[in-house]
Amino acid sequence: MRKIIIAGNWKMYKTIKEGQELVNALKRDLYNIENIDIVICPPYTLLSCLADMLIESNISLGAQDLFWEDEGAFTGEVSARMLKDAGCTFVIIGHSERRQYFGEINESVNKKLKAALACGLIPIVCVGESLKEREGKKTFKVLEDHLTNGLSGINQQEVLQIIIAYEPVWAIGTGNTASSAQAEEAHKYIRDLLAKLYDQETADSIRIQYGGSVKPGNISELIREADVDGALVGGASLDGASFTEIIRKAAEVLKS
Ligand code: PGA
Repeated sequence: MRKIIIAGNWKMYKTIKEGQELVNALKRDLYNIENIDIVICPPYTLLSCLADMLIESNISLGAQDLFWEDEGAFTGEVSARMLKDAGCTFVIIGHSERRQYFGEINESVNKKLKAALACGLIPIVCVGESLKEREGKKTFKVLEDHLTNGLSGINQQEVLQIIIAYEPVWAIGTGNTASSAQAEEAHKYIRDLLAKLYDQETADSIRIQYGGSVKPGNISELIREADVDGALVGGASLDGASFTEIIRKAAEVLKS
């Protein structure tokens, strides 16, 4: 049984004080959720102080990116070891905004993935097609490209530590969620591909999150799909009430 995992990607939002307020609200409202792994991924500047607040809570901490070297003269970068030291358990890698605005490519995703695994961080690897690619019927090709190259050289033991996030670029921050059928189709493709790259049992153990305009109004439908194992939530994770509602709704589906 794959445990559902819901992560909030705060992107470049929130000061320390705002982040503390949000964490206080989440701790108060989500303390009794047991059947879902809850993660928040704030900006770097908030990590260490929020880590202290999250000790002994059911909420884990993740970062939004990392650099693959351990240390060195790499101005502006942060390593896996530093993220571990700051209290992170998870790290997002290859988010489409990094691919779009900061030159992230499969090769750098792959290096970051290896660095994260070597340090014991759990990578959330993002894959997904643009609108143009979907309209050109290239969705599966893009997923194959992102996955086979992103996971290049990753062995079976390692891939079991990874979480995949399917994030169609056209659904991110646009309010246009993929329908649950579209999400399931892509998730099933990803799982089948993982079975080909590794084996069926391995593929069946890997969690695949959906991301792209997840809201309280669409989480239940998405989570009911067989291959949707959680969500990576952007905008709706910035508000305590809506992130809480998303998690509570998912928890209800699991009980039903
Ligand atoms: P969104 O972002 O929920 O605001 O669409 C999702 C993401 O980018 O991870």
